[in-house]
Amino acid sequence: MRSVGIVGIGSYVPENIVTNKDFELFLDTNDEWIISRTGIKQRHIAPKDMPVSELCYQAGLKALEDAQIAPEEVDLIIVATITPDYAFPATACLVADRLGARNAAGFDLEAGCSGFVYGVVTGSQFIATGMYKTVLVIGGETLSKVLNWKDRSTCILFGDGAGAAVLQPVKEGFGFLGFELGSDGSGGALLSQPAGGSMYPASLETVEKNLHTLQMEGKEVYKFAVRVMGEVSLKVLKNADLKIEDVDLLIPHQANIRIVDAAVRRLGISPDKVVVNLDKYGNMSAASIPVALDETFKSGRIAEGDIIVMAGFGTGLTWGACVLKWTKVGLEV
Ligand code: COA
Repeated sequence: MRSVGIVGIGSYVPENIVTNKDFELFLDTNDEWIISRTGIKQRHIAPKDMPVSELCYQAGLKALEDAQIAPEEVDLIIVATITPDYAFPATACLVADRLGARNAAGFDLEAGCSGFVYGVVTGSQFIATGMYKTVLVIGGETLSKVLNWKDRSTCILFGDGAGAAVLQPVKEGFGFLGFELGSDGSGGALLSQPAGGSMYPASLETVEKNLHTLQMEGKEVYKFAVRVMGEVSLKVLKNADLKIEDVDLLIPHQANIRIVDAAVRRLGISPDKVVVNLDKYGNMSAASIPVALDETFKSGRIAEGDIIVMAGFGTGLTWGACVLKWTKVGLEV
């Protein structure tokens, strides 16, 4: 099996920022409540006419530029999203077309906020086995389009954005060292967008009942998240024969600062090794981890050989983590 790493990264968030104060104008909520319960101060929201494929295209373009790879060289594009442009065709195909990645296969992957981790784990298998050389994985969301803006317990939590990673073979001993993925469909109803699929096809009734918007049992999801974040991070380290002391950087899914803090306590990792940017972006679902990775790398905080853990959880329910030894140098194969 070949070693696989991330040789290019990029991200994109829409310009428009919605602060907690902005919510006070139309919701029974306030800045203090939102910050103390979630840690979120603001989020970026896409304009009405900007679909998720546009965010994914921008992030993908930057990642390819960062890797200095032409779109034609990409063998496969995976878009992790729960807010695709359409039920079908897949957003990955639309993004491939925009990028001019005419030699790429493409499919969407739906694993909620674990989507980017699921995506890089899936994409890296094609390279590890020698079938493909270059895979572009994008986590992108426009959750703003499926929120109920009258539901204060959900609409304040989420933001829009996209982050992308170019995967290629890297030198032995570097790149992805292990992963852990899991799911539990019995918790599916805890976080869902019920209508629009084959269970509740779109109808006047589904629209009237708001069933096309995100529905969440916040407390239950919170309990699940706190439990699973610590568990999956420890498991992935065990799979890679590493200890928590070996970790230079933990990039957790950015849902709620209290969930991150609980994981930090559980793992016994130093908080200065943990990336937090949810105050600026809210929960961007599949985009949270790659946007955080991109920002952290651009800030100069990641060095060759660093051990990085990325861990997420989300609708499904799903969870996933991967550990990598950082290098951005691709191998000529
Ligand atoms: N502003 C003001 N009050 C709010 C509010 C808001 N935006 N949202 C909810 N409240 C109220 C509730 O109505 C409730 O009022 P009540 O006591 O009169 O009934 C009170 O605040 C407490 O609500 P509760 O649900 O107990 O708050 P909480 O501490 O559990 O925090 C979440 C709510 C949603 C922030 C929290 O449960 C959470 O983060 N869950 C996980 C969500 C998540 O991460 N989802 C994505 C997973 S990928």
